[in-house]
This record gives sequence, structure tokens and C-alpha cells, in this order.
Amino acid sequence: MGFPKNFLWGGATAANQCEGGFNEGGRGLANVDICPSGERRSAIIRGKVDDLFCKTEWHYPSHEAVDMYHHYKEDIALFAEMGFKVYRLSIAWTRIFPNGDEQLPNKAGLQFYKNIFHECHKYNIEPLVTISHFDCPVHLIKTIGGWKNRKMIDYYLKLCKVLFTEYKGLVKYWLTFNEINMILHAPFMGAGLVFREGDDEEKIKYQAAHHELVASALATKMAHKIDAENKIGCMFAAGSAYPFSCKPQDVWEALQVDRENYFFVDVQSRGEYPSYAVKALKRKNCMPLMQKDDTAILKSHPVDFVAFSYYNSRCIASEVDPANMAAGNLFASAKNPYLKYSQWGWPIDPLGLRITLNEVYDRYQKPLFIVENGLGAMDTPDENGYVEDDYRIDYLREHIKAMKDAVELDGVDLIGYTAWGPIDLVSASTGEMKKRYGFIYVDKDDDGNGTLARSRKKSFYWYKRVIETNGEIL
Ligand code: BG6
Repeated sequence: MGFPKNFLWGGATAANQCEGGFNEGGRGLANVDICPSGERRSAIIRGKVDDLFCKTEWHYPSHEAVDMYHHYKEDIALFAEMGFKVYRLSIAWTRIFPNGDEQLPNKAGLQFYKNIFHECHKYNIEPLVTISHFDCPVHLIKTIGGWKNRKMIDYYLKLCKVLFTEYKGLVKYWLTFNEINMILHAPFMGAGLVFREGDDEEKIKYQAAHHELVASALATKMAHKIDAENKIGCMFAAGSAYPFSCKPQDVWEALQVDRENYFFVDVQSRGEYPSYAVKALKRKNCMPLMQKDDTAILKSHPVDFVAFSYYNSRCIASEVDPANMAAGNLFASAKNPYLKYSQWGWPIDPLGLRITLNEVYDRYQKPLFIVENGLGAMDTPDENGYVEDDYRIDYLREHIKAMKDAVELDGVDLIGYTAWGPIDLVSASTGEMKKRYGFIYVDKDDDGNGTLARSRKKSFYWYKRVIETNGEIL
């Protein structure tokens, strides 16, 4: 029993958090390149953006990141040494179309990813490609306002066509948008949305989300047409919402939070706006404008599999007590007294992963893929860069056990698991380097200092064994 024989073990990264080389090979400027680290970051990723350019006094962690742009061969060799079956990475849109609206793609950018895919196949690693992971050309933000403009669908599909054609036979697993529900919480980072005084932010966000949903369905159609082997997934930030108590109001509020996140997958997987969303959006005057074919497009092209990130569950109280809140991926929620917390205050809830897997599978009945999970923690390397990261091993072990239970005991159809940040990379929420997830340590600090040398942590050897034994030895 245990995990299926062909289970896809691996790791996941995003271009802006690991590649660097932000102005090399003809790459254009992207939204993520103008998100600095430090205290301004949070407001900027939420859409409070004053200037759409880089300032000399701020530090922009995506510009160099961990320089995978120049280290990819070494890094993929290390993934192969751990036995990876799959490597999830994202395409930097502006490497392919620097402004987003060019007629022809940038050859150097296309070649860069082709090299990566060849490198993966050399080691029998299957690439899993996120087409858009917090990525939007700045030029398209300046000229058309990012995803709030329907024209983005055409630009996105132009990118997709190039990718599906160029990488036919090299890539068959694709995700259309990373954590599509993040648009509600980090709209600049997620969709290039900039808000001005007096904007109806919620209305704009749902209009932009609608454009992404249509784009995702049309990309699915295109991918299937170009290559029948292609498998397309949606991807959302998951983590079940628990009622803070059995008070019916708490249960009701928790249901609302789950629905806010499932809304996206309901559309992408079941193919239509769920009735609860139609009612609620109309009530708030946030129902997006649609064109007459949109309903048919969404219905005709649902995804093949459902992928998600899981870091933590959430706990929802109908009466919010600001003194009793916990951080977490996406947003803060009530502090769950039964859980332990990470150094960044995120709840640690392995059983929550089994609960989430079951909920998602019950709801969609499609193959599932966990494409992010991990512990962001501070590491102290010895003089050789070795880190005794037992805390990370403990977190992953417990989550993989929970995942195994979901597969073995509950019958969830799970096709793979890619741990987040197998190599240390820049944190999306804080821009820090010290929030590390990797099995591989990278010598770089929050101010951009360091040799960029890579070294294996204790968890590297542990994960290698997990993969070798197909999850039998944890
Ligand atoms: C997910 C994102 O939200 O969580 C990743 O898809 C991100 O890009 C990850 O890095 C972990 O969050 P953070 O803020 O710790 O980097």
C-alpha cells in the first residue's frame, strides 16, 4: 500500500524568488521586481503602489534572489541527487515577453527555460510549470492596469501559445496561476492591481479574478488542443477553516471563509460560478462584467487536476478578538489554542493537511497535487554550511504522514508532492532570506550579502531517503 508507485516527489520554486538575473537575457521588469523587502513590502503587495519603478534606496530581493539564473545546472543536479521525480518551477513572463505586448517572444528567455527542461530530463525529472506565479509585466500595469483589464487575457494566451508550442514534448504538467485566490489578499503581487483613493477594491479584484478565470479556461482549451498529453491544473492556497467554537455563528463564518477560497476552484474545476458566489457578489455589487461566451468557456474547459499549497489551517471566530490572532499564509485568523506555531507565527497543523485533502477531494473528485508545503525557519549553519534542521524534518515528516493517511486510509487520489523551496529562496510575503524552507542552504542574507554557495542540510539526506523508499521511511 502506501503511496502509488509513480508518485511524483519533488520540490517547488517560483522564478522571482529564486532566479535573479532580473535584467539579464533581455528580461523586462515585472511587478515582483518592484516589491522591496522591509516594512513597505506589505502595503505594496496589497496594491498601495506609488511608483512603478525601482528606487535606489530600497532593496529588491528578486533582482538577484539566489541567482538560479546562473546556478540552475548545479541546483538541478542537487535535486536529482535527492531523487526528485518532479520539479515545479515558474516562467518569468518578462523573460519571454519583456513588455508583455511584443509580437515576437524573446529568444534568450525561451532558450533559458528550454535548457532547464533539458537539464531536468537528463535526470528523469518531470517539470511542472506554473505559467504565472505572482508575475505581471510592469509595462502592462502601466498601460492597461494589469488584470483588471480584459485585454490581459489575450496577452496571457499569447504567452501560453508560445510556451505550449515551444515546450511540447518537454513539459506536460502545467498550472495556470499560482494561488489564484491570493488576488484577494495580495492583489498587486497576484495580479498587478494598483488602487487609488476611492476605488471599490473588492469590485476590481473580482473583475480581475474573472479575467484570470476565463484566461485559465482558455489556456486549458489551448493546451489540450496543442498536445493531448498536456495536463492542466488550477492552484489555490488551501487550508481548511475551522470554527473557533461550535457556536453556530462561528461555524457559519468558517464556511464563508472556505467558500471565499473554494470559489476559484469551483469555477475552474466544476466550470461555473457557484450560486452562493453569484448571490453574494450581486449583493455587494461586485458581480464581474462578463461577455456572452464566458459562461460557455468556463463550462467547457475545466482543469484536469486540482493543485494547492498547504501551510496551515485557519481558525475562524465570528467575533474577532484582535489580541488573539495568528499569522498564516494569506491572512491572519483566530489563534487556535491546540496548535504550535512557527517562528513567523504560522500555525503548524499536520492533521489539517489530511482534513484539507479530504475536503478538497470530496468536493472535486479529481486527482490532487500538493504543490507547496514546508516550514519557513531560521537556520544556523556550521562553517561548512551544514544545518541540523530537525525542526524542518519534524514538520515535513508529520505532514507527509498525514498525507499518507489521506491516501492509504481515506482513498484520496493524490498524484504528487512538491515541498516548497527545496533550495533556500526569497520569502514572498516578507522578502526575507532568513525565512528559509530549503533542503539546500544558500549563503545569502537579508541585505543581499553572501557567496551564494550551496550546501546540503540534514533535511537533504532525510528527504532523499523519503523519496528512495517512496515515503515508507519517514
Ligand atoms: C505561497 C506562495 O503563498 O507561500 C509562495 O505560492 C511563497 O510564493 C510561499 O513563498 C511561502 O510563503 P512565504 O511568505 O513564507 O514565502
